[in-house]
Amino acid sequence: MKPMTDHVLEVRDLCVEFTTLHGITRAVRGVSFDLPRGKTLALVGESGSGKSVTSYSILRLIQKPGEIVGGQILFHPKDGPVVDIAQLSPKSDELYRIRGGKISMIFQEPMTALSPVHTIEDQITEAILLHRNVTKKQAIDLAAEMLEKVGITQVQQRLKQYPFEFSGGMRQRVVIAMALVCQPEILIADEPTTALDVTVQAQILSLIRHLREQMNTSVLFITHDLGVVAQIADEVAVMRYGVIVERTSARQLFTMPLHPYTRELLRAASLGRERDFPPVQQLVGLPDGWQFDEPAGNGVCQMFEVEPGRHLLMWKGDNA
Ligand SMILES: Nc1ncnc2c1ncn2[C@@H]1O[C@H](COP(=O)(O)OP(=O)(O)O)[C@@H](O)[C@H]1O
Ligand SMILES: [Mg+2]
Repeated sequence: MKPMTDHVLEVRDLCVEFTTLHGITRAVRGVSFDLPRGKTLALVGESGSGKSVTSYSILRLIQKPGEIVGGQILFHPKDGPVVDIAQLSPKSDELYRIRGGKISMIFQEPMTALSPVHTIEDQITEAILLHRNVTKKQAIDLAAEMLEKVGITQVQQRLKQYPFEFSGGMRQRVVIAMALVCQPEILIADEPTTALDVTVQAQILSLIRHLREQMNTSVLFITHDLGVVAQIADEVAVMRYGVIVERTSARQLFTMPLHPYTRELLRAASLGRERDFPPVQQLVGLPDGWQFDEPAGNGVCQMFEVEPGRHLLMWKGDNA
């Protein structure tokens, strides 16, 4: 029997720590969210809130001194049983199959994903040959086809070129082509447009939207920019200090944010246009004895579903 809501990814209580000379940083402190199949979930929050650490964890790209210390990353592939990525051995075949094949990632700076010393053709075909059972010739054809899909012209010439021969926006298109050429079930995009001009950014966003629809990919989109969220997201999770404070549909978030931090972000993004929001207590029932502010010292937190599809994080002090 199919579950009522079809989630391609369920992250449950993910905790990631970095051990440094100064002690332990709890970068991600119990993050839970669902990515509905075929939809785009935006993870939004200020710099340092733990967005990249969360997304790197999904592909097990966290390097020492960082470590996943708890939680589950449940991947529900289209065909095949559910996999807890957090439990996979770092060198397992299964992890290699997932990474880049079933789940792929676009990083903020396209040059981190591209090798400066190989042609675009070599780089895209390498990704294809790693994950798909095709000949070299077929791989080149697939690469060309994908480059056309992301809006690159004169593809045969372009394939023979090196990354430095492309502009920033064109390089990001190549990276998107590389990420999508194996038709992953999930695309993770970590601030993919932050380094680009606003006009190029708009083109890349509409490209990702278009490809998502065409290929039915589910997208986890990371950004600090609420303007970008408005353009791309179906669902939104707002992150702060390593936790998600509010999770809801994009439409609900922009119409009536509930968490004080979400409201602050929205006010800041509306560039001086003040928005008055009614007190949250007038809008939804909140659990007794719980508060939005994290108590000093030890506290426990919990997500409450305060209306269908909308979750708020609330805290309780140890002594409460
Ligand atoms: N390599 C590292 N070493 C130590 N701490 C790190 C490292 N990477 C990330 N962190 C910690 O994790 C926090 C969240 O980082 P990150 O996920 O990159 O934030 P962002 O939301 O801007 O993507 C940082 O504020 C930092 O405390
Ligand atoms: Mg980041």
